[in-house]
Amino acid sequence: MPIAELSDARIHYTDTGGSRPAVLFLHAFPLDQEMWAAQMVATVGAGFRAIAMDARGFGGSSAHGGPALTMETIADDAAGVLRSLAVRSAAVCGLSMGGYAALAFAARHQEMLAALVLADTRAGADDAEGKKKREAFALAALEKGSPWVAGEMAPKLQKDPPDPAADRAIRALIAKAQPAAIAAASRGMALRADHRAGLEFIDVPALVLVGEADKLTPPAESEAMAAALPHATLVKIPGAAHLSNLEQPAAFDRALAAFLKQHLGEDTPPA
Ligand code: MLT
Repeated sequence: MPIAELSDARIHYTDTGGSRPAVLFLHAFPLDQEMWAAQMVATVGAGFRAIAMDARGFGGSSAHGGPALTMETIADDAAGVLRSLAVRSAAVCGLSMGGYAALAFAARHQEMLAALVLADTRAGADDAEGKKKREAFALAALEKGSPWVAGEMAPKLQKDPPDPAADRAIRALIAKAQPAAIAAASRGMALRADHRAGLEFIDVPALVLVGEADKLTPPAESEAMAAALPHATLVKIPGAAHLSNLEQPAAFDRALAAFLKQHLGEDTPPA
């Protein structure tokens, strides 16, 4: 299992290898890199290198020591994984929590950002009420465990009614997350920065994707991000809610491949 040994964490990643421009995938809460399996295959099929990683505490990465896993930590770990692979720059694709981390990456590692894909996410921070809910959720996850989290979250992440196969896969992904990681990430999301004012300075091509029926990060959030980013394309995915890559993989992959070919194609020097 490939591991990037960073100064204070062991980050599990998957890398399809090669010298083509790279795409780094950052997963949603409380899933892990397995959620990107179809996109990894599609990205390679479109002619690119695909890398995905588990945030600390999730999948095969080492546990996070502290009470809150911040989006900055995930972003710095992502930069660490790229450096460990000698990848100078990459397109960073994050969905929901992965999008929060991708925005932190854009703010902290601008020189490594070739393009940005923000899926089913938002640039704003939580309000006071939202932060309280995150803490209550963290405590409940610690007390009741990840099967409870799967039961709570799965319906909110998908269209109604969900696709049965996608629903099974999503519940299984959530149920294998460690309660401590769920709590730390919930607290970390509560602490995340408001990136709205920084969007206009993200001077790379951006793709903003959103499921038409996303209730957690509704299409209006994506419209606002796409309007504020200087070089953005907005794609709404019919028949999907929040986990648009798992609910409508073909439409997601088509939009992603078209964006990558247009912006990271032959003219972009390999990393
Ligand atoms: C996610 O899908 O990563 C989370 O639902 C995001 C959030 O709770 O803000």
